[in-house]
Amino acid sequence: MQQIKVGVLLGSLRQGSYSSQLARALAQAASPSLQFTSIEIGDLPLYNQDLETDAPPAAWTRFRQQVAAVDALLFVTPEYNRTVPAALKNAVDVGSRPWGQSIWNDKPALVVGQSPGALGGIAASQHLRLSLAALNVPVLGQPEAYVSNVASLFDAQGELNNEQTREYCVQLMQAFETWARRLSR
Ligand code: FNR
Repeated sequence: MQQIKVGVLLGSLRQGSYSSQLARALAQAASPSLQFTSIEIGDLPLYNQDLETDAPPAAWTRFRQQVAAVDALLFVTPEYNRTVPAALKNAVDVGSRPWGQSIWNDKPALVVGQSPGALGGIAASQHLRLSLAALNVPVLGQPEAYVSNVASLFDAQGELNNEQTREYCVQLMQAFETWARRLSR
């Protein structure tokens, strides 16, 4: 079966974040025909149109090239103050420009929210979906993915220790693969 390259974008910059643990668990639950690549966002200068010259910041160019090279996108994010963490929103903005050259256009995507609390990052997920809709990113509509009480789902090594969540990850990645195969070019 044809391989699908999936770029992974995390809404958290911290080492050992639950977002990264969950992204790893999702990759482990996916079929081998999905190839996952982490796309760094922590080094992207804040979006500033004045820097959009013939020589934009090197990190912007690296980021744009990495996103352009993948077939599909997996976003895993916490919410900060009921919305998308600033680093991730900045990455969305960097990828959306220059005008007419957005690297997001038409890339099938999955958005997964997480939280140590009860609400599973639902507000951040919805706000991220709003931006992605404006950028013509087809995000999987169902199942929606909000992982609550995330701190209880991983052991000290960052491995998933909850069988029900493992099964949920398998089903979610099957739905994502079907979506990505239908839409990726
Ligand atoms: C949070 N956190 C949080 N959680 C939540 O469910 N809703 C929220 O609005 C917020 N707001 C918020 C703001 C800021 C600035 C921080 C640092 C944290 C808690 C957050 O979900 C928790 O720290 C997660 O563990 C962050 O995800 P990572 O870094 O583990 O991936």
